[in-house]
Amino acid sequence: MRKSLLSIGIVYEHAETDEMGIKATAKEMGIDVVYFPFRKVCVSIANDGYQFKTKGKNYTEALKDIRVVLNRTQSKNRRLYAGSILEACGKNVINPFSIEYVCYSKLRTLLRFWKAGIRIPQTLFIPCDAHDRVSGSDKTIHNEEDIADLIENALGQGRVVIKPDAGTHGRMVRLATNRKELTKLVDETESSVVNPVGLVAQEFVDKWFFDLRIIVAKKSGSTPYCYPTALARAGFSDFRTNTYLGNMVFGVDLPREIMDFSVRCGEAVAQDKEAWVLALDAMLNIRKNKSVDDDYVKTRLERLREPFQIVKEAKRKKMGMMDFAAWNDELESAYRGYMNSDAYASVREVIEENIERSKHSILFHEANACPEFWEQTRVVAGINIAETLLECAQSVIENPCSDQSGSCIVE
Ligand SMILES: Nc1ncnc2c1ncn2[C@@H]1O[C@H](COP(=O)(O)OP(=O)(O)OP(=O)(O)O)[C@@H](O)[C@H]1O
Ligand SMILES: [Mg+2]
Repeated sequence: MRKSLLSIGIVYEHAETDEMGIKATAKEMGIDVVYFPFRKVCVSIANDGYQFKTKGKNYTEALKDIRVVLNRTQSKNRRLYAGSILEACGKNVINPFSIEYVCYSKLRTLLRFWKAGIRIPQTLFIPCDAHDRVSGSDKTIHNEEDIADLIENALGQGRVVIKPDAGTHGRMVRLATNRKELTKLVDETESSVVNPVGLVAQEFVDKWFFDLRIIVAKKSGSTPYCYPTALARAGFSDFRTNTYLGNMVFGVDLPREIMDFSVRCGEAVAQDKEAWVLALDAMLNIRKNKSVDDDYVKTRLERLREPFQIVKEAKRKKMGMMDFAAWNDELESAYRGYMNSDAYASVREVIEENIERSKHSILFHEANACPEFWEQTRVVAGINIAETLLECAQSVIENPCSDQSGSCIVE
């Protein structure tokens, strides 16, 4: 038994608060987690085996004892590399490479949802770059008007969202409200590491002032489940409500129907994989079906501005942080000040009421394989994903029916 508890590894390049949180949680749960670096490390594969070494330390033997590795490397590309290396070395990885591969691309994720019959925003993929350079000359072919025509033909002349297929933090997620803006946004689209080919365009979802981050997970030997609370990210300042842009967060209860859809989303992405943890992004097409007017919500968000500023300041202090536990206490106390207010309770109530009213118009648009959680999801929605990750890893170790590709072997 003790041996199995020693066999969980974690791989990352820099310890952010999430990784420190995973370590602190593992300690509380009495689980040993062995750290493997993924930056100044040399991974060698040769006919007589593999080596995993930094300049100062050889991790090869330690890695051999590991059965499951939590992949917390901090970019989608690094996670793909780390996942493929570790799986080739015979490790179960959470999340497995195949899940990372789907989540890497918004389009691939949406295709999975769509095939599984889950409701999504209408999404276009146009495999044509806005500009083509003619080889052997300095001529450029401009495709932006043709691409804008294709988008308008499919989505009509209203609002359209253009986004990079593999972007994060809402960067370059842009809204066009008319043809002129659409052509301009298309013209500004460049192929890059986050947007390798062409263009992803999406129907604008009139989600009022919030969207949802929902957590689904599966342990080995158990059926997938959805946490009954979610994070609502809320604000009126931008059509993008994600938290990276400074929006406020609320912990809300989910109706059973949304939890069921969410489980189906998780299954669509993970398929036969035995243990996984995903954060889903979803929006409700609320349109005019609002329970109160905008001003009611705006007044209360305004009252929350000051206590939320204290939360933001506490978060900022993590830079140069010396003592994780002390910083964490300060963060939690700042959140308590914000969450204990009447304004928080009323906005939360409005969001829950409107989730209930529009639950059948929920649209899922993304799955995140390595969600940030320590500073928001844990405190506000009450879900410590570190616990989920560690329990998933333990379930793989304890379940005899698992293989090393992360799939469950069914006899
Ligand atoms: N089709 C859409 N209609 C309306 N709003 C949208 C649409 N797509 C995205 N948004 C808004 O923009 C925000 C960021 O979009 P998205 O999640 O696609 O980008 P991202 O780069 O993956 O961000 P993150 O990493 O925070 O999830 C969403 O939280 C949502 O508020
Ligand atoms: Mg997103």
